[in-house]
Amino acid sequence: MEKLYDSYDRLHDYVRLSITDRCNLRCVYCMPKEGLPFFPTDKVLSQDEIVQLIENFSEMGISKVRITGGEPLLRTDVVDIVRRIKAVDGIEDVSITTNGLFLAKKAKDLKEAGLDRLNISLDTFKADRFNEITRGGDIDQVLEGIEVASKLNFKKIKLNVVLIKGQNDDEVLDFLNYTKAHNVNVRFIEFMPIGNSLKMWRKEYVGLENVFKICAENDFQYEPIALNGNGPSDNYQIAGFEGSFGLIHPISAKFCENCNRMRITADGYVKACLYWNEEISIREAIPDKKEFRRLIQKSLDNKPLNHEMAMDEADKIIDKAPTWRHMSQIGG
Ligand code: GTP
Ligand code: 5AD
Ligand code: SF4
Repeated sequence: MEKLYDSYDRLHDYVRLSITDRCNLRCVYCMPKEGLPFFPTDKVLSQDEIVQLIENFSEMGISKVRITGGEPLLRTDVVDIVRRIKAVDGIEDVSITTNGLFLAKKAKDLKEAGLDRLNISLDTFKADRFNEITRGGDIDQVLEGIEVASKLNFKKIKLNVVLIKGQNDDEVLDFLNYTKAHNVNVRFIEFMPIGNSLKMWRKEYVGLENVFKICAENDFQYEPIALNGNGPSDNYQIAGFEGSFGLIHPISAKFCENCNRMRITADGYVKACLYWNEEISIREAIPDKKEFRRLIQKSLDNKPLNHEMAMDEADKIIDKAPTWRHMSQIGG
């Protein structure tokens, strides 16, 4: 089998597949207040197209698939999508990133369909803050979803915490403490200036240095650990704690040299890099394996070595945002 490499010799074996751009929340760092016009249904890849696309990818050495959105659990056929992707020869790891609102309802069926791992967004433990950050979300639904999912023996459950200055960056210790008795991986994520969030980013970006400082202040002894995952997180465990924590720091320390992933948008474009404007429509090519491969390889040939998000060498903000898509239209 001929595997996929980009022009910097990075092996690509991981696809992040957005199955819808719709979302039932409007998180402040992800969507504008007024929301976004959603893609018309006929612009979104069908279940059969998705399965065929993953079959094509599996013949190119892709073995890991993460299903994203918008909010993927909004798609009524998400369980069937998981089942069919998991059944594709060569696909070893199928995961979902979700906001958790519908998780209590769907977790069992997803597990039975073969879902391996779950990442759930949860930026705060405080109900009023959650409501503000998500512009209307009910935290109890997410907490219930986490509880239900925790009992189902997923290989790993991770919580994604995007740190926002003045909004939730005082909760780092609460999240670290949560890992004491909960076998989850809490990941602190640096806010990225994607979509229209540049203005907010300038004021509310916060780096992750504070996490280690808080560990030191609380006498937490931590060690790096290897963890099941395909993404960019550096992971650590505090001695005696059941769970672990991770750091995702695209701004303060790029991790592009190890990039193994590409993205497929819900409307059928391949994006070789999250922060790169080039995207190629692959929808028409799905039935034609050779053409599909040619287009995927073309996008990898043009993939940049690094993203140029947020800062130049002098730590100045670069005002260009080389992607017109908002985060919810890419899938993170
Ligand atoms: P696993 O490691 O397999 O659990 O997945 P993951 O951490 O890659 O997936 P998830 O969807 O939970 O993403 C967590 C955060 O990492 C999100 O904020 C993503 O936007 C961010 N992220 C994932 N891949 C990249 C990447 O290639 N570049 C950048 N800048 N951010 C990324
Ligand atoms: N910066 C960092 N992470 C983001 N996410 C969404 N928007 C941003 C942003 N601007 C995260 C979500 C979710 C994951 C898919 O991406 O919180 O966990
Ligand atoms: Fe929806 Fe996720 Fe974006 Fe929040 S971060 S608005 S839950 S897609």
